[in-house]
Amino acid sequence: MAKQKNVFLCRECGFDSPKWLGRCPNCNQWNTMVEEIVMVAAPLSTQAGSGEKPKLIREFSDSDDLRQSTGIGEFDRVLGGGIVAGSLILVGGDPGIGKSTLLLSVAAQFSRHYGNVLYVSGEESAAQTGMRARRTGAVEDKMWVLAETNLEMILAQALKMQPAMMVIDSIQTLFYPGVPGATGSVSQVRESTGRLLRFAKESNVPVLIIGHVTKDGSIAGPRLLEHMVDTVLYFEGEKNYAFRVLRPIKNRFGSITESGIFSMERQGLVEVKNPSEFLLAERGEQASGSVITACIEGIRPLLIEIQALVSTTCFGLPRRTAAGLDTNRLTLLLAVLEKRQGMMLGNQDVYVNAVGGFRLSEPAADLAVVMAVASSFKDRAVSSSLLAIGEVGLTGEIRKVPRVVQRVREAASLGFSKIIVPWGNLAELKKETIKVELIGVKNLSQAMEVGLK
Ligand SMILES: Nc1ncnc2c1ncn2[C@@H]1O[C@H](COP(=O)(O)OP(=O)(O)O)[C@@H](O)[C@H]1O
Ligand SMILES: [Mg+2]
Ligand SMILES: [Zn+2]
Repeated sequence: MAKQKNVFLCRECGFDSPKWLGRCPNCNQWNTMVEEIVMVAAPLSTQAGSGEKPKLIREFSDSDDLRQSTGIGEFDRVLGGGIVAGSLILVGGDPGIGKSTLLLSVAAQFSRHYGNVLYVSGEESAAQTGMRARRTGAVEDKMWVLAETNLEMILAQALKMQPAMMVIDSIQTLFYPGVPGATGSVSQVRESTGRLLRFAKESNVPVLIIGHVTKDGSIAGPRLLEHMVDTVLYFEGEKNYAFRVLRPIKNRFGSITESGIFSMERQGLVEVKNPSEFLLAERGEQASGSVITACIEGIRPLLIEIQALVSTTCFGLPRRTAAGLDTNRLTLLLAVLEKRQGMMLGNQDVYVNAVGGFRLSEPAADLAVVMAVASSFKDRAVSSSLLAIGEVGLTGEIRKVPRVVQRVREAASLGFSKIIVPWGNLAELKKETIKVELIGVKNLSQAMEVGLK
């Protein structure tokens, strides 16, 4: 017989400890330990003989790894070519970012080709989910919705229906009767995922789980489940922009280099086939403070406009505001500008924005950030046919970036004719035939000379 006991569990990573701790020793987060009641597993019973038997490895063939296409190219791409039968996939993201919208259309497309799909909604009523499906064109003959939060009931329905796929929206709304802890608690979320895992493996049905990233920490977050599931995808974006990226964090059946790009429209999520064009669509007339750069998202090059606004501080401390990039990185780049270019920014407010809601995570965008700031400070526009790529070092040197050929090709295909690149990347670029004017620079001064004459 299983016994109950009290333990302290980390809401972020699930670490357990017999006593309360201010900081979780496993994930180093503060104030994440909560007290919960858990079951202590009963000793191994006399079930020996039942269950799975060992199988010979050589009896498996390639056809055992058949992937099922979801019908949504960007989603398949992220998974590594489609869904593997019996896999458990976690889709995490901030509330309101579009997880339900995404999985509703994945479910609808999937049901077209493979039959019944069960969409379990613990957050919204069946009617609400139905309305959303109507709005986003996800109404299909074999789409079923179940508004239920009791996992025992859900699994009973799923066993009866034998769907081709099941979606759980969201894991934090489920509870498993008999397991201690409130809905959304660490033990409930973990136990529910464990049951879903077993269902997926035993019935060979792919199960997609939505998990909200939680800021206030009142419920357990999806990070807790990352090691339990086969695949972890995060859906990201800035709320005020339509641009969304689906990024793989873990994938037992493929690489984690491909990401999917979508646009959140009124009628639902739309796949973005040419993200650079999409991101540059609203570019205005040539004005000071705007420079384009080429970033790599997953394995794809993307052109991004960096905008900067520099204006004299009216009172108090100068402000440094960055949207779409790290504020610390911006501060560092401004210090390099001051020290190496003699640009006095100490009494200036600086705002920098990566347009379109894309998050810059690569130092390859440094040069464009620095040039945009300098352009605004001097009120001198940078040519709209110019693009800048390069990492800025502390001494003002421009350092090599990876995958430069891909970046330059993308820039050329969108009509940029003059491209500033790190000197160190010139050799590999010379081997290619790309019809653009390449300007290799060794340091900031040379880049400024070219871009802001
Ligand atoms: N009736 C509606 N009309 C237009 N847009 C809507 C409607 N309902 C929701 N949305 C959009 O969908 C977004 C929520 O997406 P959703 O898939 O529910 O996010 P999540 O499941 O990640 O919380 C909202 O930010 C909103 O922009
Ligand atoms: Mg939702
Ligand atoms: Zn932890």
